[in-house]
Amino acid sequence: MPSRGFPKGFLWGAATSAYQIEGAAREGGKGESIWDRFCREPGVIQNGDTGDIACDHYNRWRDDVENMRDLGLGAYRFSISWPRVFPMGNGRHSPKGLDFYETLVDALLEAHIEPAATLYHWDLPQSLQDRGGWTNRDTAGWFSDYAASVFMRLGDRVRIWMTLNEPQVSSFAGHEAGIHAPGLKDFGKAVQASHILLHAHSIAVQAYRQLSPGKHRIGIALDVHPVYPYTDGMSDIEAARMADARTNRWFLDPVLKGTYPDDIMSLYTRNRVAPHAEPADFELLKANPVDFIGLNYYLPERVYASDEGGFLGFQYGLKKDCPRTEIGWEVFPEGLYDILVQIRKEYDNPVMFITENGAAFPDHRVVDGVVQDDDRIDYIATHLSEARRAIQDGVKLEGYFLWSLMDNFEWAHGFSKRFGITYVDFHTQARTWKKSAAWYRDVIASNGASLTNAG
Ligand code: GCO
Repeated sequence: MPSRGFPKGFLWGAATSAYQIEGAAREGGKGESIWDRFCREPGVIQNGDTGDIACDHYNRWRDDVENMRDLGLGAYRFSISWPRVFPMGNGRHSPKGLDFYETLVDALLEAHIEPAATLYHWDLPQSLQDRGGWTNRDTAGWFSDYAASVFMRLGDRVRIWMTLNEPQVSSFAGHEAGIHAPGLKDFGKAVQASHILLHAHSIAVQAYRQLSPGKHRIGIALDVHPVYPYTDGMSDIEAARMADARTNRWFLDPVLKGTYPDDIMSLYTRNRVAPHAEPADFELLKANPVDFIGLNYYLPERVYASDEGGFLGFQYGLKKDCPRTEIGWEVFPEGLYDILVQIRKEYDNPVMFITENGAAFPDHRVVDGVVQDDDRIDYIATHLSEARRAIQDGVKLEGYFLWSLMDNFEWAHGFSKRFGITYVDFHTQARTWKKSAAWYRDVIASNGASLTNAG
């Protein structure tokens, strides 16, 4: 491997998700999703924004594929909207839904861009939420029926699949913190939702193996956070171990080992929030291993022991005097190296992709119509350097998907936070490259050799 470049065949991509870019909330027979509903509750989304129009990608996808071609992207990670395919979640499907994704996939292939599809990036059909959503076991079966229809239609052409995006966030932000759809605040329900999501994952992988035997690859995208104790004290070290179990191992262990971690499981059991799981659920997880793990990495967790943390016994702290993004997230590129190496060691060196990494910055400085986002360039460059260091240390990392191809609807932050390397004017829908886009194009063209830490 050249010292500054990446291994031959390393996949350079960018990512988006359906609700965040498509808009067309009621076009093409699409049904209502929990995000369509949640955004209508007063006060939950900054400025009352919704994804009704977003980047209008549903109508402007040709321009977006053209943009990807200009960037020289090797791969594009997008998500399929379940309610676009099955407006009610199950039963009658909407033909226009899969037509849309098929046309997109064909256009990507034509542009020599590898499509990487996520089946669930948080937009559950509302009618399934009305039946209990992810706390209802039946939802897992409906998910795998939906997944099977998508595999049958696109399984010959899409070679990288992800079942779920960040089940940690959709279960806990959606069911415990209540800041994401469906907006519940119940720890036990969040744990239960996480189990049903993982169950849904395993039966979808099983369906995939049955329908497209061994041909292409299927995995899952997990948000991971390396966890650091606030001090060297024993109690903070123990707190960090528990936080790692809650955030990371609770999802990595079932996917890669077919079990839940004992430490946090006993804590959940003692506090009556353990999930209702059947022994067969674990057999199914074990019988359906993934081909790769996708990691979404943005920031680390810093934790300290505290009685105010309830039965978990810890709280999250903020490191002082460190660089932060506009959302306030700590910028800590070494964390990416640490978590990659942690997973290599604890899980027998699985194949991995970074399925998301990027940052929101104010994007205020504009010269000749180009946003001068040197802070974003620096964020991406330093994270890529850490990714390369991990590869040199034996991590089987095969690709990097930058978040995001373009500015989009950032969940509870609405349109107020911009992660794109392409600037989107949400009034005119004009797309313009930021400085980072041209910079990323050069990184891709040189297979990473153009990287310097300063960007
Ligand atoms: C997530 C989602 C993305 C976000 C991105 C920035 O990680 O929350 O996968 O949809 O937009 O991560 O927050």
